[in-house]
Amino acid sequence: MTDVQTRTVEELTFPPEFLWGAATAAFQIEGATAEDGRTPSIWDTFARIPGAVVNGDTGDVACDHYRRMPQDVALMRDLNLNAYRFSVAWPRVRPDVGPANQAGLDFYRRLVDELLGAGIRPWVTLYHWDLPQTLEDAGGWTNRDTSYRFAEYALSVHDAIGDRAPTWTTLNEPWCTAFLGYTGGQHAPGRQEGVAGLVAAHHLMLGHGLVVEELRRRTATADLGITLNLTVADPHDPTDELDRDAARRIDALHNRVFLDPILRGTYPADLLQDTADLMWQGRPWADVVRHGDLATISAPIDVLGVNYYKGDAVSGRQHEDVTGFAGDHAERPTSTPFVGCEDVTFPSRGLPVTDMGWEVQPEGLTRLLKRIHDDYDAPVMYVTENGAAYADTVAADGTVDDPDRVAYVEDHLRAVHAAIEQGVDVRGFFQWSLLDNYEWAYGYGKRFGIVHVDYDTQVRTPKSSALFYAEVARTGRLARGGPTP
Ligand code: FCB
Repeated sequence: MTDVQTRTVEELTFPPEFLWGAATAAFQIEGATAEDGRTPSIWDTFARIPGAVVNGDTGDVACDHYRRMPQDVALMRDLNLNAYRFSVAWPRVRPDVGPANQAGLDFYRRLVDELLGAGIRPWVTLYHWDLPQTLEDAGGWTNRDTSYRFAEYALSVHDAIGDRAPTWTTLNEPWCTAFLGYTGGQHAPGRQEGVAGLVAAHHLMLGHGLVVEELRRRTATADLGITLNLTVADPHDPTDELDRDAARRIDALHNRVFLDPILRGTYPADLLQDTADLMWQGRPWADVVRHGDLATISAPIDVLGVNYYKGDAVSGRQHEDVTGFAGDHAERPTSTPFVGCEDVTFPSRGLPVTDMGWEVQPEGLTRLLKRIHDDYDAPVMYVTENGAAYADTVAADGTVDDPDRVAYVEDHLRAVHAAIEQGVDVRGFFQWSLLDNYEWAYGYGKRFGIVHVDYDTQVRTPKSSALFYAEVARTGRLARGGPTP
């Protein structure tokens, strides 16, 4: 017997063309919120509502990426990344929904130039939650007109960088925009209007479809798609009928509400039945779905971005130890984002949790990817976000060792590889996030970066997880193990 055991972990090889990327979002990193003609977004407004964001943090400075962009791109090159998923700020491009603002567009022109010069593939997200406040004042995503304004804005972005950006995703996580923004109130604009989330979800998807149709007309070669955040809704007790039904309802309101219209051109029948009594402006909410909308929404896409952090155990009964929703720790009271599911709880499973309180559940990612592959005629998939917040410490020598995040990254990459082995066509992975940044209603307190940001000095320090990921990106291989005590 020996007291040193060998951890035999299989070495895994990823496909040769795999994209090794990192993701960010404009509002979370850019700062410079009043520069070069940018006007306020709903997040500028929301951050100023007392109690809405922890510590009252705003996006005014963030990571100062608007000014430091060339250095940040060089950093990505040094980390061997071959793709970068960024979002474009609508209020820079069409301030107050007016004409295209060339000064705002210039930033993204320079960014794309810089990326291409560094051999990094630009991956555009058109909407990562920073709706122009002017549009919210007119009803935001509950107003159908916003979908058409979104298409106009998308064409302005395409005019500027369409010739050089190969991948275009319309929306990031419409679930959050719709249900955290209009039902639960955890996110901007902070409305808590129940069924408004479903109305917003429909208009978001309509905007997505309009943009796909327009961009498809303009380009035959670009990859077009959307990024969804999906959960794996497991009944807390699979033998309990109430828990099974609760899991079905959450699956409908979290996953199928988007997957079915986009990939099948229909709303799930059970969702329509569950929500049939919910009225919007005096009429059944589903009356907002007009003839032709679902054909637009289901315009064929080339890529599906999947964001995954964790799945959920779901119950139809009350439990003492439950997990919360993103953002519901802030002082301002919020509601459940799951309209009509006020009875549903999310019991904790006793898994390890990150600094967000989110359970670490890598096997859920394999199941999620496989499920989309099995249940839908799905396009090529990319994991467009995965990562973890941990409370990092900077050592006296300035380094940041983050073993929990290294393990999280490794375990989730293994989960993606398992899905590929099961026949799912996954072609890339994006770390959330390149940099520590503005974590929405949590402000700057939660650090998701593989690169540490000192917000006083704006100094960037790659953490151990960045160095680990850089090696995986360089070799396309994942190896760990060896003797451990
Ligand atoms: C996702 C968001 C991203 C970031 C991560 C932690 O829901 O898309 O901006 O906040 O969660």
